[in-house]
Amino acid sequence: MRLILGVETSCDETSVAVLRGCEELALVTRANLEGQAEYGGVVPEIAARQHIAAIGPVYEQALAVAHISSADLEAVAVTYGPGLAGSLIVGLNFARGLATGLGVPLLAVNHLEAHVLASWIGRAATEPPELPAVCLVVSGGHTDLTVMRTECRHELLGRTRDDAAGEAFDKVARVLELGFPGGPAIQQAAAALPDGAEKPYALPRAWLRDTYDFSFSGVKTAVYRAWVDKLDPAEEQRIFRDEGGARLQRRDPVAIARMAAGFQAAVVDVLVHKTVAAAEEFAAASVILAGGVAANLALREALVARLDIPLFLPEIRHCMDNGAMVAMAGAQLLERGQLAPDDLDIDPGLELTALEVARPGN
Ligand code: KG4
Ligand code: ZN
Repeated sequence: MRLILGVETSCDETSVAVLRGCEELALVTRANLEGQAEYGGVVPEIAARQHIAAIGPVYEQALAVAHISSADLEAVAVTYGPGLAGSLIVGLNFARGLATGLGVPLLAVNHLEAHVLASWIGRAATEPPELPAVCLVVSGGHTDLTVMRTECRHELLGRTRDDAAGEAFDKVARVLELGFPGGPAIQQAAAALPDGAEKPYALPRAWLRDTYDFSFSGVKTAVYRAWVDKLDPAEEQRIFRDEGGARLQRRDPVAIARMAAGFQAAVVDVLVHKTVAAAEEFAAASVILAGGVAANLALREALVARLDIPLFLPEIRHCMDNGAMVAMAGAQLLERGQLAPDDLDIDPGLELTALEVARPGN
């Protein structure tokens, strides 16, 4: 069975994994938190510099964990887009140098395709999802709903018109001063809501009816305006009062929990509603959830509850950016004989799919 190295540096995580087929032998990830703590987000220049410092040691550690030497590798897979240019370059240069030095093929991986394949890791290769499959890719940079009627070919149904779902989580967490990355922090804050007595705030949902598009900037702005006390009285009454009509204290842990839970529910509702609707319209045989936001337990539970077809969920540690999903995507490329061209360059704006709207019968 082939041993494939996966190298992921598209954003701020430096991650390297070794896979044998679908089996993960090692996954080592270093989250570069230095600039984030100070600036409340990813600073591209700092991320790129940290990748340069981290990539060698992370690679060495991955080989050690897998108990292999570099000579055992049969191919090197690397993310070439989408992502931050300075970060992508570090991974690509490292992977190309390694593949050339070892005399093994280099495989060019689309980061979004890798997210979609994350739920294959650890499964038997004989268990691919039945097609057509509806895929929801929700990350810090993307919110894409697609249908896959042919293997590895995504037809775009809808995407966000403004913030990506993960981006909205990150921005709302910043408003609520919960830290970065915002998704896990909001989930944790929402889970702290005392049972029974307190309800999540009712926040607006952008349904964008008759489309599979999303919009999360409205709900994000509603949280922000509520929090900084800029609501008009009617909105204030609707959103920022407790059951008895009393004004809520900002910074109160229960107020934070209610706001976090209200925001999470608003995002999850729309994501689940549109995914279920797409699965019905396209007579999907399976649904695949992917991307960092796929780690959200409320989203996972709601999809499980609403779908009666197989749902492919990545393990939590394979939701956020990681080298294992890159190696998994690389394994497929290798199987199809699709090796990277010698002049492979990064593509920061790479898409999951060509912009085309698919309808049944097309
Ligand atoms: O896929 P990813 O690691 O990076 C990109 O390709 O963008 O996704 C990162 C995003 C961040 O916005 C983070 O806040 C979000 O995924 N995220 C979550 C959770 N864990 C990570 N969002 C909601 N709930 C979570 N548990
Ligand atoms: Zn990602």
